[in-house]
Amino acid sequence: MQKAPHWVIFALQMKKGMFRSHNCGELRLSHQGKQVVLSGWIQASRDFGGMTFIDLRDRYGITQLVFNIDDDQALCEEARKLGREDVVKISGKVRERSNKNPNRSTGDIEIEVDTLQVLNKSKVPPFTIEDDTDGGDDLRMKYRYLDIRRNPVKESLIFRSKLALETRSYLNSEGFVEIETPVLIKSTPEGARDFIVPSRMNPGQFYALPQSPQTFKQILMVAGMDKYFQIVKCFRDEDLRADRQPEFTQIDCEMSFVTREDILNTFEGLTKHLFKSLKNIELEDFPRMSYDEAIRLYGSDKPDTRFEMQFVELNEVVQGHGFSVFDNAELVVGICAQGQAGRYSNKDIKKLTEWMQRPQIGAKGLIYVKFEKDGTIRSSIGKFFDDEALKKWGEKMGATTGDMLFILAGETEKTRKQLNELRLEMGRRMNLTRPDDFKPLWVLDFPLLEWDEESERFHAMHHPFTSPKKEDQEKMLSGDHETMKSLRADAYDLVINGAEIGGGSIRIHDRSLQSRNFDLLGFTKEEAEEQFGFLLGAFEYGAPPHGGIAFGFDRLCAVMNGQSSIRDYIAFPKNNMGKDMMIDAPAHIDKDQLDELNLELKLTE
Ligand code: AMO
Repeated sequence: MQKAPHWVIFALQMKKGMFRSHNCGELRLSHQGKQVVLSGWIQASRDFGGMTFIDLRDRYGITQLVFNIDDDQALCEEARKLGREDVVKISGKVRERSNKNPNRSTGDIEIEVDTLQVLNKSKVPPFTIEDDTDGGDDLRMKYRYLDIRRNPVKESLIFRSKLALETRSYLNSEGFVEIETPVLIKSTPEGARDFIVPSRMNPGQFYALPQSPQTFKQILMVAGMDKYFQIVKCFRDEDLRADRQPEFTQIDCEMSFVTREDILNTFEGLTKHLFKSLKNIELEDFPRMSYDEAIRLYGSDKPDTRFEMQFVELNEVVQGHGFSVFDNAELVVGICAQGQAGRYSNKDIKKLTEWMQRPQIGAKGLIYVKFEKDGTIRSSIGKFFDDEALKKWGEKMGATTGDMLFILAGETEKTRKQLNELRLEMGRRMNLTRPDDFKPLWVLDFPLLEWDEESERFHAMHHPFTSPKKEDQEKMLSGDHETMKSLRADAYDLVINGAEIGGGSIRIHDRSLQSRNFDLLGFTKEEAEEQFGFLLGAFEYGAPPHGGIAFGFDRLCAVMNGQSSIRDYIAFPKNNMGKDMMIDAPAHIDKDQLDELNLELKLTE
C-alpha cells in the first residue's frame, strides 16, 4: 500500500490534537523540508506587504513563522489578527531563511505555515515580555506568570533547578541522606522573629515556622544518621533587603564525628563542584581568614576579596601632632585608591564626602591625600601636616604617584564600618567588582558571644549550640565577665564576593558547657528546659561530637550569576513589605476562622 505523504500525516495529527512535534528552540537547517507542528505564545509580529512574520515562543526558544498572502490570503489575514501572548498551534514546513539571525538558535530557519489554530487569546500584557522590560518590581511580581515568561527570570529558575540537582548529586555521592524535618514546630534560636501559626486543636497555643532545621538536624545526629542534608524552606520575620526574603531556602547539613576541617573540606568540595558543573569554572582552594583579621583589614566579616584596598591603621604615624580629630580618635584608618588622584576634583570629593555623611553611613567627614602625577601632594588637612608627614603616610599605605588616600577617624567599630562602605563604593567605581570574577573566602573563629549594651546581655553570635574553640573551653567554664567577651567560637562562614553564602559551627555536645552557655545567655534552668528540653534530653542518650553548616540556596544562585538580588531566583518572591503581590498575602481572615482558632483581633492604631 502506498504511504500517505508527510504533510497528510501531519494534517491528520493536527486534527487528532497533537500539540507539537518539536519545541520552539529546536529546529535547525537539518530539519529543512520537514513538516512540523509547534505550539506557543506570540512574541511579536511584523507585516511586510504581502508577508507576515510572527515570532512564536515557548520555554525553549523562538521560531519565526511566515505567512504569505499569495499562498493563502485567509490564513494570512487570520495571522495578522493575532495579538501579543495569544496561544496558538501551527503546522507548516521548515525552510531556510534568506535573512538569517545569528543571535537565535533557530535563526537559520523559518516555518512556512499551512494551518493555524488559536488555542487561547490573551489580554494585552501590562509590561513588555522582553529581556529588558518596562515593568516595575511590584507590577512584575503581581503578574509573575508573565514575568517568568521573560528569559532572565526563566533562566534563573532553570539555573536554580540545576543547582538543586547538582547539590543532591554531590551530597549523595558523599554519603549524605536527605531527610525532611517538620515545618510546624516550636521556635528555633536563630535570632530573628518567628512566624507564628495558631493551633485550632490546642486553643491558645501556637506553632512557629522554622528559622532553620537547627535543632532537628542535631537530633538526627543523636539518632545516628551521621550525614544529613536537606534543601529546605526557612522562615524569618526580619527586615527585608535585596538578599533577604521572609521565606528562603537553605542547603542545610550536619555531620557526626567530624572536626571543623572535615566540614570545611566537604563544603568547599560542594562549592567547587557546583561552580564547575554549572559555570565551568575551576575554583582554586579557598583562602581562610580569622574574623578578627577580616574586621581589621576590611571592617566587615564578609569582605569582598575580589580587590585588595585593605585598611591601614595610622594611629602611630598621625597622632600626637596637634590635629585634634586624629588625636582624640580611638582609630585612624585609611585605604589607598590606586590611580584615583587625577579623577577626583574638589567637587567630586565634596560629593563623596556628602555620600559618606548620609545617615545610612554616618561619617563625620572624609580626609583625603592626593599624590598627584606631577609630584605635588594635596590634602584636606595640608594645613596641619607638611609634605614630609603626608609622604610617610603614603609609604605606610603603599601609595605611589597618582594614588589617593581616604582616611577616617573616630570610634573603632563605627569607623571600620564606615570605611568598609567607602572601600566597597570605591571598588565599584573603579570596576574592581567584576560579576564574573569569583573570590570565595572562609571566615573563621567568630566571637562566641556578643555583648548588647542596650539589654546588658550576651547574645549568641551564631546560635546557642555553637561550641567555643577547644582552647577557650576552660576559660568559658571559669572565666569572669570580661573574659567571656573574648571567647572564640568554632564557627565559620563561607563568603563569596562579599556575600555571606553560608554559616555553621561545631556544636556543643557536652552538658556542662551547654548549661554554662545558657547561663551566659541569660536563660534560667527552667527557661532552658522549657525551650530546649527536647534537645538537652536527647543529648543525654549519647550525643556524638557533631557540627554542620547551611548555605543560603537563593543567595548562592544569585552570587553565582553575579547578581545581588535573590528575587529572580525565587519563583514567587515577596516584596520589601513581605507581601506576595500576586495572591495578595498576607490578608485578613474572616471572623469564623478567627473564632475557630480562638483568636480575637485587636488592632491598635
Ligand atoms: P544562618 O542563620 O547563618 O545559619 O543561615 C545560613 C545562611 O542562610 C542564608 N540566609 C538567608 N537567605 C535569604 N534570606 C534570608 N532572610 C536569610 N537568612 C539567612 C544566608 C546564611 O549564611 N542553622 C544555622 C546553620 C548551622 O549552624 O548549621 C543557620 O541557619 O546565606
